[in-house]
Amino acid sequence: MRLFEGKKGLVMGVANDRSIAWAIAEKIMEQGGEIGFTHLPDRPDDDKRKNRRRVEKCLEKSEFEAKFLVPMNVQEDEEIASVMETAKNEFGQLDFLLHSIAYADREDLLRDTIETSREGFKMAMDISVYSFIAVANAAKDLMSKRSAMACMTYFGGEKCVPGYNVMGICKAALEASTRYLAYDLGPRGVRVNSLSAGPLKTLAGSAAGVGEMLKMYEHVAPLARNITHEEVGRTGAFLLSDMSDGVTGEVLHIDGGYNAMGSPGRLTNLLA
Ligand SMILES: NC(=O)c1ccc[n+]([C@@H]2O[C@H](COP(=O)([O-])OP(=O)(O)OC[C@H]3O[C@@H](n4cnc5c(N)ncnc54)[C@H](O)[C@@H]3O)[C@@H](O)[C@H]2O)c1
Repeated sequence: MRLFEGKKGLVMGVANDRSIAWAIAEKIMEQGGEIGFTHLPDRPDDDKRKNRRRVEKCLEKSEFEAKFLVPMNVQEDEEIASVMETAKNEFGQLDFLLHSIAYADREDLLRDTIETSREGFKMAMDISVYSFIAVANAAKDLMSKRSAMACMTYFGGEKCVPGYNVMGICKAALEASTRYLAYDLGPRGVRVNSLSAGPLKTLAGSAAGVGEMLKMYEHVAPLARNITHEEVGRTGAFLLSDMSDGVTGEVLHIDGGYNAMGSPGRLTNLLA
């Protein structure tokens, strides 16, 4: 029997076929899971509906079908509520929910953390952190008695990673939110975890400067290489499946072991 046979859930955060959310969704669907997707709403003047089209294209290129595809800006409570209404009508209940969403103004990412603007900070925290709490709260009554939620984080929330700046502060808050949500939802049988991925080339990743990180990870990470979309897909599916039952409030690293290092590792050979 496949891991997600008979399981139904929501995946939020597919922008294109390089998105981490897509990598995880593919693994879940390979294992028999049924998914309802959300996409960033298109601007009313965008006749081509580019955001929706990009997700549709991922599905067309794959062997899988979405149960539904609906717009959702996580800054709008009514849009979150409307997604849950659709999920209730289509699925009745949810077995898994993936939040793979983050945003900060490029200008705020480029300037030193100390110069982060108040408005930029509020927006980054709203979209990248509060939204997980809002979505979890809106979904809680739909979650089945043996279900899981997960969000995506990065090591820059644990330690200072220059260049990650305001997003590092967001990830620290997101990881703390994971622990508190795990406590709140635990009695309902809902697990809540964060998946901390090493750098991957995606839209958000490029904005956060992963280009330079990729080379460094090759030299520092114990595995001496970067992780792949396939790997993050498998680990994400694991965290959302019953295979990880008993795991909650956790930050699981899928980073080739980079976070375990206390020195620059093999990078020191290059410095010698
Ligand atoms: N790429 C990496 O190296 C990396 C590493 C660790 C963690 N992450 C995290 O993974 C998650 C997914 O990012 P990704 O790298 O797949 O990039 P991505 O650009 O493919 O995904 C980011 C998603 O956030 C969505 N989004 C932004 N603002 C939104 C809003 N207001 N409402 C709804 N959706 C909104 C975008 O539409 C997009 O689908 C993010 O939380 C990111 O911080 C990425």
